[in-house]
Amino acid sequence: MNHALSKIRAIRGMNDILLESGGLWEQLEDIVRVLLNSYGYRNLRTPILEHTHLFKRSIGEVTDIVEKEMYSFVDDLNGHSFTMRPEITAGIARAVIEHNLLYDRSQRVYTIGPVFRHERPQQGRYRQFHQINVEALGFSGPDIDAELISISAQLWKKLGLKNIRLDLNSLGQSEERSLYRAALIKHIERYTSVLDDGKKKRLYSNPLRILDSKEPLMQEIIRQAPLLSDFLGQNSKSHLKGVCQRLDSLGIEYSINPKLVRGLDYYNLTVFEWISVDQQGTQNAICGGGRYDGLIELLGGKPAPAVGFAVGIERVIYLCQKGAALKQIYACEIYIAHSGENAERFAIDIGELLRGKGFSVIVNAGGGNFKTQLRRASKSGARIAVILGTEEVSTQCATIRFFNPSNQEEKKQKRVPLGELVQTLKSVNDYD
Ligand code: HAM
Repeated sequence: MNHALSKIRAIRGMNDILLESGGLWEQLEDIVRVLLNSYGYRNLRTPILEHTHLFKRSIGEVTDIVEKEMYSFVDDLNGHSFTMRPEITAGIARAVIEHNLLYDRSQRVYTIGPVFRHERPQQGRYRQFHQINVEALGFSGPDIDAELISISAQLWKKLGLKNIRLDLNSLGQSEERSLYRAALIKHIERYTSVLDDGKKKRLYSNPLRILDSKEPLMQEIIRQAPLLSDFLGQNSKSHLKGVCQRLDSLGIEYSINPKLVRGLDYYNLTVFEWISVDQQGTQNAICGGGRYDGLIELLGGKPAPAVGFAVGIERVIYLCQKGAALKQIYACEIYIAHSGENAERFAIDIGELLRGKGFSVIVNAGGGNFKTQLRRASKSGARIAVILGTEEVSTQCATIRFFNPSNQEEKKQKRVPLGELVQTLKSVNDYD
């Protein structure tokens, strides 16, 4: 194939976010920022590329992500192995340790950005996707777990998303999990003849992940498996109870799902997932999180508890689009067309004036007669054209035309003195 002439396409599973959904993404991100700031969460941004061993140590060597899904490469210049972040929590924990952010206080932080996993792409599962990551570091009690869950619940509410279920579980502490692990291995060993090679390997390296299997053959084995909840000590039980009591008092519904184990090794105690009930298959989780009290120490920091969650933005945007939950916003509200002597300068000044009053405004660029300019205006998605010709300049007026008028008054093109322009345009917006 002649690469010089062939069209270059995006990499499979890595999508362009085109202009129409771009507006929805911005809206979603705005809602998220306002919500998180209102709870005192502050923005922390970490690099996309990190040392590979950060993820191996954090997420765990025997996990799908580390074994199969990381985009890693060796830098020829120094022989170091780097990885495109397959999740953001590990990078945040690294940054918190590196900059000593927990020295004299706890921290509430968030970040929004791309994440990379080499999975088989399909609807809702991509190789580059985006997460809203929210983390509370340095807090050990169930109160902060409930705060985080409550923030996520409010996000669904603000986005108008319905039919989202909350699954909750406790993974206990590592000693409790080792006892459980031994019991689980003993149980599953009775069925080794039906296990495929992958599961046989997993059985001894990470048996809890077998509980996640969706294969029909495994369901009966999983159903009869011992429950981790029977191995939890008093402290773990009372932490879970503390979370549940707070969720009850906040009116947040949940179901305890004893089989919820999550795909990353750093968790202990509380884990949770929000599931879209209307979606089928494994791509129905729109948010997942939990406690990772051991991670900071595992990465070389002074021991500090932590908890957080991540929302999959593509999956949430899909639900918003399906349910028409977010209103599609216009690219801009006003398009200024201008022609004739001094009209360009007049247009620039009026553009600045209107932007200062909170409107979004495009001033025509590239010349053209009014017909051409109004065609551009209509294509731009603007609601209103402000038309400025020689006469408008000399009389200090503006002519207003509505695209898709919503009432009788708007059907007419009208000329208003400059002093009344802002008020007239505002009254149109207020009418909406
Ligand atoms: P996770 O469950 O691996 O958790 O990912 C969180 C969310 O990212 C999922 O619920 C899903 O919505 C979305 N997601 C995951 N994989 C894909 C994919 N291939 N395509 C599209 N969306 C996807 C974590 O990443 C943890 N770091 C969450 C966390 C934060 N735990 C504590 N703090």
